[in-house]
Amino acid sequence: MVHSLLAALFSLILYSSSMAELTRFFHPAKSDGTLSLLAIGDWGRNGTFNQSLVAYQMGMIGEELDIDFIISVGDNFYESGLRDVDDISFEESFCKIYTAKSLQKQWYSVLGNHDYRGNVMAQLDPILKQIDSRWLCMRSFIVDAEIANFFFLDTTPFVKKYWKNPKKNQYDWREVAPRKRYISSLLKELEIALGESAATWKIVIGHHTLRSVSEHGETPELVKLLLPMLINYGVDIYINGHDHCLQHISSTDSFIHFLTSGGGSKAWRGIIMPTMENLQFFYDGQGFVSLQLSSTDAEIKFYNVFGDVLHQWKITKEFYDYIV
Ligand SMILES: *[C@@H]1O[C@H](CO)[C@@H](O)[C@H](O)[C@H]1NC(C)=O
Ligand SMILES: *[C@@H]1O[C@H](CO)[C@@H](O)[C@H](O)[C@H]1NC(C)=O
Repeated sequence: MVHSLLAALFSLILYSSSMAELTRFFHPAKSDGTLSLLAIGDWGRNGTFNQSLVAYQMGMIGEELDIDFIISVGDNFYESGLRDVDDISFEESFCKIYTAKSLQKQWYSVLGNHDYRGNVMAQLDPILKQIDSRWLCMRSFIVDAEIANFFFLDTTPFVKKYWKNPKKNQYDWREVAPRKRYISSLLKELEIALGESAATWKIVIGHHTLRSVSEHGETPELVKLLLPMLINYGVDIYINGHDHCLQHISSTDSFIHFLTSGGGSKAWRGIIMPTMENLQFFYDGQGFVSLQLSSTDAEIKFYNVFGDVLHQWKITKEFYDYIV
């Protein structure tokens, strides 16, 4: 009795100390304090479905904006993530595709649901950095880029239906299951980190949608568990993929802008359910998004495979003028 009680206590202590803290990376802004970056999602298809065209234009725009890094919002390798660390898809879909000089920067990547259908441990393995030094993929982490803090979140475990039908698709839940414990620990850590963030711009990245008018629509688990926290802590932008299109949706109950950058390869699904009054922009084809941040402005642009700007706008934090 005493024994098992002690054992239970001990495992509780072990468990609480093993709760992974959100790893933090520091990425300096430019010397003038600004920052620019690209975000791309749903891409790894050996260059097919216009992946190479998107990559080419990312290279051009990346040069023009002198980007500091690139964000991948997940579904990095189709159809089922990586098989192992020697999977040729890593080279065929990443190294040999994003070859432009301006794209030889740090990539910060999260996992999508398709990545979870493969060997997640392989995709997260730091050994991939030896094949391509740009690669960094983790479940959840923070990039502190001075004027902006980026919170990268592992959203796949939130979605209940992925847990329910293991016959349809196998998901690699190693180091994740049980779901509830994983999610509550992640949300707890995120809340602390958001509360501590003093950056002008708080940007959250996850594979799954919060707001979307396309095929997948909203992700109810995220709307319920994550969105209230983002509103509470004044998050400015949420960037996701999952729906293979480009979207900008604003809010009436907060200042959050919802961006979908899921046009990295296979697009043109022709699904739009324009029920949302806050829909600012929707494009069903391939493309990507750029963010240019300064201490007062965030300028956001969506591009197609020709490098045309399809939609752009600026968020200004005017109150900053009279604080400083
Ligand atoms: C990419 O090419 C590899 C090697 O030929 C193949 O195994 C993989 O299925 C391809 N991926 C896609 C998405 O076509
Ligand atoms: C590639 O992009 C062009 C221009 O947007 C489009 O017409 C074409 O259908 C795309 N190809 C595929 C396979 O999606």
